[in-house]
Amino acid sequence: MSAPRAITKAVIPAAGLGTRFLPATKAMPKEMLPVVDKPAIQYVVAEAARAGLNNVLMITGRNKRALEDHFDRVPSLEATLEAKGDMKKLGLVQDATALGDIHYVRQRDPRGLGHAVLCAKQHVGDEPFAVLLGDDLIHEDDDLLSFMIEAQKKTGGSVIALMEVDPEQISAYGCADISHVKGADYVKVEGLVEKPNAEEAPSNLAVIGRYLLHPRVFEILEHTAPGRGNEIQLTDALQELAIADGEGAGVHAVIFRGRRYDTGDKLSYLQANIALAVENDELGDSLTTWLKNFVSSL
Ligand code: UTP
Repeated sequence: MSAPRAITKAVIPAAGLGTRFLPATKAMPKEMLPVVDKPAIQYVVAEAARAGLNNVLMITGRNKRALEDHFDRVPSLEATLEAKGDMKKLGLVQDATALGDIHYVRQRDPRGLGHAVLCAKQHVGDEPFAVLLGDDLIHEDDDLLSFMIEAQKKTGGSVIALMEVDPEQISAYGCADISHVKGADYVKVEGLVEKPNAEEAPSNLAVIGRYLLHPRVFEILEHTAPGRGNEIQLTDALQELAIADGEGAGVHAVIFRGRRYDTGDKLSYLQANIALAVENDELGDSLTTWLKNFVSSL
C-alpha cells in the first residue's frame, strides 16, 4: 500500500435541528451555544487547526448567519476596541477569524449526518478528509486527532473514534463490533450499528464525533437509503465501507479515553461549562469556592 495522502481538509457538520436543546436552539444553531466564553464550535475549529486541518468546510442549515458572522471579521467592533486600547478583547474577537480558511455549504434539509457529509463532496474532491461534529467537544489536552491521523497513515481506509460507555447508554450512539490488531494501538472495525438496544449491541464502544474518511464514502453515501429515524446515517455508510474490498475499503478505530462532552445534550453541556470554567484563569478559583459551598449546602 502506498502512503495515503495527507489530510488537510476538515468538514464540520452543523446543520442539525438541535431538538434536544429547544427552545435555546429555536433561532440559533446549537453549535453557537457558549461554553464558558466561546461558542462550542470555536473549540472544534481550533482542534482542527491544531491538527493542521486549516481548510474547513462547515455544513450549515437554517439559522446559519450566526455561525458565518462569528468566524468573519467585524471591522467596526475591532476599530472600537482598538480605539479604547482594549487589546485583550481585540485579540479574543480576532481569534476566531485567524483559525483557518473557512468555507460554507448549505444542507437544505437536515436529512441526517450521512447526508450532511455528502454535501461536502464537491469541496473535498478525491482526497481523504476529516469530519468533526460541531457539537462534540474534546478537551484540548486530550489529543485524539493526531492519534487518528497516525493510525490512518498505517491503515489507509477510514479511521473512526470510539469511547466506552455504560452499556445502557449505547442506544444513544452508533456502536462498533471490533477485533484487535496485534501490536497496534488501534482496532479493526468489523461492523457498525446505529443506536442499537442494549441487548442487541455488539459492544459498549460508542462512535464519537471524529472521523477520518476515505473519499470512497461519498460513492456509498450517494446510494445509502434512509435508516434509523428516517435519516441518511453515516454509520450505515461506514458499515458498508468496513466490509467492502478494494481501494479505500476498511475501517479502523482509535479508542479514546479522554474528556469528551456532547454540547447538544443539556447535561453534558452543563458539565462542559463547569469543567472548563474550573480550569479557567479568570473564573477557576472563585467558581471552585462557590461550587464547594453550593454542593455542601445541598
Ligand atoms: P445529532 O445527532 O446531534 O442531531 O447530530 P441533531 O438533529 O443536530 O440534534 P437533536 O438530536 O435534534 O438534538 C450530530 C451532528 O450532525 C449534524 C449536527 O449539527 C451535529 O453536529 N447534523 C445532523 C447535520 O449537520 N445535518 C443533519 O441532517 C443531522
